[in-house]
Amino acid sequence: MEHLEKQIDETRQGEALVLEQTSGTKKMYLESYGCQMNFSDSEIVASILKDQGFSTTKDFHEADVIFVNTCAIRDNAEQRVRNRLNEFKIAKRKNPDLVVGVLGCMAERLKEKFLDEEKIVDIVVGPDAYRDLPNLISKVEGGQKAINVILSKEETYADITPVRLDNTGVTAFISIMRGCDNMCAFCVVPFTRGRERSRDPQSIVAEARDVFEKGYREVTLLGQNVDSYLWAGGGLKKEILTDEQRAAATSFAQLLEMVALVSPELRVRFSTSHPKDMNDDVLHVMAKYENICKYIHLPVQSGSSRMLELMNRGYTREWYMERIEAIRRILPDAGISADIITGFCTETEEDHQETMSLMKWVGYDFSYMFAYSERPKTLAERKYEDDVPEETKKRRLAEVIELQHDLSEIKVKAAVGKVHRVLIEHESKKSDAMWMGRNTQNMVLVFPKGDLKPGQYVNVFAKECTKTTLIGEVVN
Ligand code: SAH
Ligand code: SF4
Ligand code: F3S
Repeated sequence: MEHLEKQIDETRQGEALVLEQTSGTKKMYLESYGCQMNFSDSEIVASILKDQGFSTTKDFHEADVIFVNTCAIRDNAEQRVRNRLNEFKIAKRKNPDLVVGVLGCMAERLKEKFLDEEKIVDIVVGPDAYRDLPNLISKVEGGQKAINVILSKEETYADITPVRLDNTGVTAFISIMRGCDNMCAFCVVPFTRGRERSRDPQSIVAEARDVFEKGYREVTLLGQNVDSYLWAGGGLKKEILTDEQRAAATSFAQLLEMVALVSPELRVRFSTSHPKDMNDDVLHVMAKYENICKYIHLPVQSGSSRMLELMNRGYTREWYMERIEAIRRILPDAGISADIITGFCTETEEDHQETMSLMKWVGYDFSYMFAYSERPKTLAERKYEDDVPEETKKRRLAEVIELQHDLSEIKVKAAVGKVHRVLIEHESKKSDAMWMGRNTQNMVLVFPKGDLKPGQYVNVFAKECTKTTLIGEVVN
């Protein structure tokens, strides 16, 4: 269940994550939907507004400003935001001075249309324009609507220290790059987050060191395609590098090593790897440092090479299988997870079976699975017909979900009877007498609290399990 709850947090389609309360004069309420990048962005927004004297509230009824950081990845992610805006209407009726702002990917996708379609909205801000928020707020206070959806080729917010919204103080997200240059046929992200750009590695390492000194014990490095990370110096664009500059630039493998060296007591995770770019250098660095967690999220999307070609993913089924073999060779114990889409344009029953057979072949520990949802402006929307009937997409989705449940259960059962090194994160959601933590493979364990505290490492013997969670006891 713990694992499931985490799964919901990370469905990338929007469980609300609400800011903790702090003191100040004007009150803001901030809610985030979508992926970890969006959550990490909310921490930047909170930092910018805190500097403007805003305090935060967990109750939107008492807010002066409500911000919703939105996701556009699938239609249902957008519907969820619209439903939420409807709920805020009541608060606005009671307090006509209430300011409602939409941030993030759906704001970027809809731009000024958002102001027309949702009368309640006063501010629309895209992911690269958060520095402009104070200015936009004062514009609204002057009686106007305000919008800034300019995308940037440089912005990485490298100099802004995020206000950590995770209230456990153990795990932190660090964005290492922004945007995406990949243009997968189904995906709206390149349109909502703009061109790929990497962040200065020194600022990343400094941020990791800072959170470690504040007591955090795990960082997750975030990017849409972390394997594509490359830093050649401020202002130097990846596309125009000479061979010499490229050789001297910091790669993701090198960055990973730099962060791992902050402290052996700081666990390092990262997301998302891209099968076309994930190279053995990264795997060797992972093998070299115990504190880099042995877990790789490697989205496959489909097991059919024909589908992968249509999706413009840049690899085949065979290429993907070779990458999995490299992981098994270099990191024999690694946990592996994926993202899977069912019912993409022209997908046949045969294609679907290829996805199922690949899932079995890999034996994923875990997957995020979605029915294809057509997104405006994408290659698929412009060039292909969304021709798989909704009920077929849903039926295939149900089949991959059922298969994944079986595969996950096999993995969890195999971990029973073993001792796992666990970082304690927080109280178990099911029992206030138990702690919850993860092993290096990202598997969830719960065990009696004793006199232990979050942020400590413990060895836990897994005695038994549910379908998704190991139940154990601390051993020496
Ligand atoms: N950059 C990451 C994915 C980011 S989006 C990567 O390349 O793996 C997260 C996941 O949402 C994707 O991996 C994909 O499985 C899913 N997704 C993206 N667009 C979608 C769409 N139009 N319909 C259904 N699922 C989609
Ligand atoms: Fe979207 Fe593909 Fe970029 Fe991932 S790599 S964000 S799926 S375009
Ligand atoms: Fe959603 Fe944007 Fe993330 S579309 S999944 S919030 S990058």
